[in-house]
Amino acid sequence: MATMTQAQRGAVLITGAAGGIGMAAVRRLDELGFRVFAGVRKSSDGERLQREISARITPVLFDITDDASIAQAAEIVTRAVGEVGLVGLVNNAGMIVEGPLELIPTDEIRKQFEVNVIGHIAVTQAFLPLLRKAKGHIVNISAPTGQVAMPYLGALSGSKAALEFVTDALRSELRPFGISVSIIEPGAMQTDIFKKSAASAQQFRQRLPGELLQLYAPALAAVAKALANQRLESPGVVVAAIVHSLTSRSPKTRYLAGRGTGMIAVLRLLPDHVRDGLLLRAFGLANTRRVS
Ligand SMILES: NC(=O)c1ccc[n+]([C@@H]2O[C@H](COP(=O)([O-])OP(=O)(O)OC[C@H]3O[C@@H](n4cnc5c(N)ncnc54)[C@H](OP(=O)(O)O)[C@@H]3O)[C@@H](O)[C@H]2O)c1
Repeated sequence: MATMTQAQRGAVLITGAAGGIGMAAVRRLDELGFRVFAGVRKSSDGERLQREISARITPVLFDITDDASIAQAAEIVTRAVGEVGLVGLVNNAGMIVEGPLELIPTDEIRKQFEVNVIGHIAVTQAFLPLLRKAKGHIVNISAPTGQVAMPYLGALSGSKAALEFVTDALRSELRPFGISVSIIEPGAMQTDIFKKSAASAQQFRQRLPGELLQLYAPALAAVAKALANQRLESPGVVVAAIVHSLTSRSPKTRYLAGRGTGMIAVLRLLPDHVRDGLLLRAFGLANTRRVS
């Protein structure tokens, strides 16, 4: 794909740009000539992107769960791009709250939905005036859990399923304005997201009564093993989907990006009990003793 100038490509904003899929996308979009606004939460991360990728990157400091910081970010980007607006918004920031639903404190479940759903809506609202100017494109990063709920990832599954429905509605609502919307469902990628979720689960479990934890101990061990054994891919395949959606004249509404994601459509069609059985087996839970 030929490199074009920033004036030809236009400007994009990507959230969650400090690492993982977001940082890989920043690198590629910059290479392709986009003017990249990189949403980060720490100024040191913004400086690192400029140092490690390119001084052309413009870091924008904001937390997608903080309305005031989103408004400030929108002001900064508006001043920078003016009437030209934004050709793309990639809602990529995200996190995983893992564990059985009975054991997750409700403040953690709220955080899961705040980041993975409400944050993306808030950012989209704030940047829509700029996207309208350029008839831009919105890309939301979901996950296979948005299509098929996974056991012990119930909070994540609920949040990504909500994001899928919000995205479907948004696509129709924005069509009259010439703004297109895609959703990407990446498979298991090599990023820090699983390490972070395991560390955070470890922390909130310390607040739980021991006897409750004991009930779930065999299942927690099996799930930890299954997650550790996942075959992780490089995020390049997700970046390729982001690039396609931002550069194609007819972006797809939905992208499956990565190994195994094609199975999701099949799993959805199966009767509930059959799907439950397959998923339990995949998580190493098929032989978990029935607790009386
Ligand atoms: N990796 C996978 O296997 C996989 C699979 C399916 C879907 N996804 C999705 O892909 C997206 C990117 O994940 P990743 O794997 O690249 O994980 P990652 O490396 O952990 O990146 C997540 C990014 O989101 C940012 N973030 C988290 N909470 C935020 C908040 N409140 N405000 C602003 N930014 C926030 C993080 O910022 P800090 O660095 O400041 O914490 C980080 O930069 C997520 O939406 C995830 O659900 C990933």
